[in-house]
Amino acid sequence: MHNEIKYEGKGKALYSTDTPGQLIQKFKDDTTAFDGKKHAVVTGKGVLNCAISSWFFERLHEAGIASHYIRRESADCMRIHELHMLPVEVVVRNMAAGSICRRLGLEEGLKLARPLTELFYKSDALGDPMINTEHAVLFGWATAEQLDTMRELARRINRLMCDILQDAGIVLVDFKLEFGLLDGKVVLGDEITPDGCRLWDAQTGQKLDKDVFRRDLGGLSEAYHEVAHRLGIEGVA
Ligand code: TMP
Ligand code: ASP
Repeated sequence: MHNEIKYEGKGKALYSTDTPGQLIQKFKDDTTAFDGKKHAVVTGKGVLNCAISSWFFERLHEAGIASHYIRRESADCMRIHELHMLPVEVVVRNMAAGSICRRLGLEEGLKLARPLTELFYKSDALGDPMINTEHAVLFGWATAEQLDTMRELARRINRLMCDILQDAGIVLVDFKLEFGLLDGKVVLGDEITPDGCRLWDAQTGQKLDKDVFRRDLGGLSEAYHEVAHRLGIEGVA
């Protein structure tokens, strides 16, 4: 069903298919942090991330937000449209955590008066440095119009995800999105999983995302199971 490997990243791999323009995105059990400096294999994480990501892409599709998602192909594989990826990551923050706390001396958990979007240049070698619109346009990573669309989509996705997660007793602290071009149009690519989001229990503040791994808090797969369970997601191992 899938043929040769087209691309292998830290947490996912892409395979060609017999259908031109379609790929298989496989979610790996490999878990990395700090640009790959920390690595572990968490058995079952690929299946959990595939289930969670597929479920979110379906909710976005229902809301009229286009993505590369076609369908969940198997436990840990998604069928997707091949995109021309733009090397700019969009981070949306509702509360301060992670790198913004280090950069600006903010306390973790500070509620932001409105959602903040930030851009990062996707480069492991450089440690994904933060950039602004001018950098992205000047160096040809995306056009100003594409960046406007990415930010607007990111804000819409944030509103949708905040509502969905709030109903599940989870606070969406921040998350990262990647976009690509499909027939010249900007659409959402990559994944939506607890690897690329910060998710806190609304009552206790317990971390239910990859910070569990980054900070050695234990029980990564239990945390991801909890997210899937609360969202009513089926098909997790
Ligand atoms: P940060 O606090 O490290 O800037 O990350 C903000 C959010 O975006 C956090 O949920 C993790 C996610 N993220 C990734 O998943 N990959 C990345 O390369 C970056 C920069 C952020
Ligand atoms: N791209 C980074 C990594 O996984 C981001 C993170 O810490 O999640 O190495």
